Amino acid sequence: MPHDNSTIREANAVAIAEAAQRLRDGGLVAFPTETVYGLGADATNGTAVASIFSVKARPRINPLIVHVKDQAQAAAHVVFSGPAADLAEAFWPGPLTLVLPRRVDTPLTLLVSAGLDTVAMRAPANRIAQALIAEAGVPLAAPSANPSGTVSPTRAKHVAEGFGDKVLILDGGATAIGVESTVIGFGPDGAVMLRPGGTPREAIERIVGPLLAPIPGGPVTSPGQLSSHYAPRARVRLNATAAEPGEALLGFGPEAPAGILNLSPSGNLTEAAAHLFAMLRALDAAAEAIAVMPIPANGLGEAINDRLKRAAAPRGPHV
Ligand code: TXA
Ligand code: MG
Repeated sequence: MPHDNSTIREANAVAIAEAAQRLRDGGLVAFPTETVYGLGADATNGTAVASIFSVKARPRINPLIVHVKDQAQAAAHVVFSGPAADLAEAFWPGPLTLVLPRRVDTPLTLLVSAGLDTVAMRAPANRIAQALIAEAGVPLAAPSANPSGTVSPTRAKHVAEGFGDKVLILDGGATAIGVESTVIGFGPDGAVMLRPGGTPREAIERIVGPLLAPIPGGPVTSPGQLSSHYAPRARVRLNATAAEPGEALLGFGPEAPAGILNLSPSGNLTEAAAHLFAMLRALDAAAEAIAVMPIPANGLGEAINDRLKRAAAPRGPHV
């Protein structure tokens, strides 16, 4: 896709200051987090947040994550239960999003909640994201910086491929973790895994005990979790041992044949997560179909398998 490199700026102090000003003026800025690049707007500005939905072509029923510095800043907008505070204490800043009840007095625009009475909050661990939040002086609503339904961006150039010259992009290099944050909600019976992500289930369960699965139509659900998502153009086949004619094989581990893209030749799930979206993009550009070798389900493997399952799902309406 065509893109204008002039919109990509190295994320130095001058560029961050200009980006912060643009955010205060109601503009959009794409910025790196430790998970994926986000498309940010002032979360207290309804017009600015509305433009996120239109630039991404994101359905208005899909709420946004609000990025803050820390738990103290989050507490101005949402109410922390005991378990939520324990999780923030353990994992913030980091790749964990907590869905919590909105405070009645929060200045956040209602658009970030998309009609729910909750707000998803997260404190990112990336230095550029932190500097931008601090300089903007406002919480930042930021979904992943990709057109709705497509593969999330882990590099500045991926953002440019999706949005051309529509937004200013702060370039902070490849993101460290490579899959989106884990999203946790809270119901009467305990904490609910709404989206597996960069903070492994096992680590969260050590703090709050076993996580529940969301019940469709129940009180704690995530409108963004429809089955087809993160979809490359190419067809995707999972748990493949070899490529069939017309397929490109995406490898994992030492058993993978030499000379193909391999998420982690040593079988390391952290490395595999970091490579996942960039390798899907590369194969999408090169082949009609992608076959992916099996990935273990533990640790970051849960998030990797979740994204692959969605990439392989029949294509439907995206949110
Ligand atoms: O790592 C990440 O989480 C990245 C970076 C930029 O922070 N952001 C991200 O945002 O992945 P997005 O919009 O692509 O995904 C947010 C997910 C969606 O599945 C959305 O439905 C869910 O969080 N979500 C947001 N607010 C919610 C709420 N109030 N209740 C339930 N789910 C919510
Ligand atoms: Mg997304």
